[in-house]
Amino acid sequence: MKNKTTWKPDSWRQLPIKQQPQYDNAKQLAGVEAELSTLPGLIAPSEARELKNQLAKVAQGKAFLLQGGDCAESFAEFSETNLNNYFRVMLQMTVALMYGAGKPVVKVGRVAGQFAKPRSDATEKQGDKELPSYRGDVINRMDFTADSRRADPENLRRVYFQSAATLNYLRSLASGGYASLKRVNRFNQRFIKNSPQGERFEDLIHQIENSIAFMRACGLSPTKMRELSEATFYTSHEGLLLNYEQAFTRLDEDTDEYYNTATHMLWIGDRTRTLGEAHIEYFRGISNPIGMKVGPSLAGKEDELLKVIDALNPKNEPGRLTLICRMGADKAPDLLPGIIRAVAKEGKQVVWSCDPMHGNTIKSPNGYKTRPFNKILGEVRTFFEVHQAEGTHAGGVHFEMTGQDVTECIGGAQAISELNLKDRYHTHCDPRLNASQALELAFLVCEELKK
Ligand code: PEP
Ligand code: CO
Repeated sequence: MKNKTTWKPDSWRQLPIKQQPQYDNAKQLAGVEAELSTLPGLIAPSEARELKNQLAKVAQGKAFLLQGGDCAESFAEFSETNLNNYFRVMLQMTVALMYGAGKPVVKVGRVAGQFAKPRSDATEKQGDKELPSYRGDVINRMDFTADSRRADPENLRRVYFQSAATLNYLRSLASGGYASLKRVNRFNQRFIKNSPQGERFEDLIHQIENSIAFMRACGLSPTKMRELSEATFYTSHEGLLLNYEQAFTRLDEDTDEYYNTATHMLWIGDRTRTLGEAHIEYFRGISNPIGMKVGPSLAGKEDELLKVIDALNPKNEPGRLTLICRMGADKAPDLLPGIIRAVAKEGKQVVWSCDPMHGNTIKSPNGYKTRPFNKILGEVRTFFEVHQAEGTHAGGVHFEMTGQDVTECIGGAQAISELNLKDRYHTHCDPRLNASQALELAFLVCEELKK
């Protein structure tokens, strides 16, 4: 049960907490937190409620969720061009998924706040030197010097302003004509012409084109229908660095509920979802829609999962909780059915989403962290098959992707090999699908959904 009398935006501070940096200047940190807590939020609570309503439709099988973006946003990759490319690919994927699913697609970015990373090790060793691990630009910097790896509270302020500018720009793209269906299909036609895998999807894109022509013939002009000329786009990030999240946790006077106003949706990572610890405590008190990663370590511990679900969603409100499964392609066929069955059996209302990225990370022989495209696709396929067999809704997908032409994941029709990884490996954390791979995946999922 949510205990309103004891939950406060800072009640997490009394509990054990994982994955936090060590700051060496507590006074400076407290100063930044105090300032952030006075700055304007980035989203309105009513928008978070609207997203929750849309996710309730996903839970009921009436809509499909696409959540995607960088593993970690960074100061270095922040530019108008990168945002244009990212948003374009999200929209192109949306059209493919909408057509495949025959349902509206709820678009949620890993963006405008996705800066803090959990790490396997607290420190990194190179030769004799040992330094704190890089934890994302909101905490420290990537290069391997003591100065760069120092947790600097100033980064919190910089992340806030970059996130504000990012969201402001994405809002202008979403409502300013960039998102019109006609235009997105033009992008898709360019994709057919210029990509090796384009030809394979030519038919699909023509079918979509024909549907648009048909709608126009019926008098449903894209410029007249908001649904066809604008896109509602929401933001999300991992709620890892709780002092940042606390600073933007505000009481909504309309509902007397607390909302995190730094983002529409917040998720708990696979490494910080321990019952009785700080992250669950913080999340249970905010009223935003939330996600939780479900990795292989929860398999066979369905009782624990059900307790966490009750702590986070005591009223069993549909749309409140999205379970983002990330088992790995090889383990998913064994592990996913038990988890889905246990949750469904108790009548828990959740959105089921598939993150086919984080369970499929490998190290290539030349030392790069990478992910094979066929494993990513394999896990998505298993996800659909298992839901089909269990009679539950495969609600959505969660991808790490970028609009840039990077070489971070191997395979796909572009046939990126291990030797290509070094060419354009720019990620600040995990390997992302590039624009072409992301779109190829969306079209393959479209085919899967059409079956
Ligand atoms: C992530 O989504 O970037 C992440 C760290 O995922 P997970 O918590 O599933 O490991
Ligand atoms: Co990641």
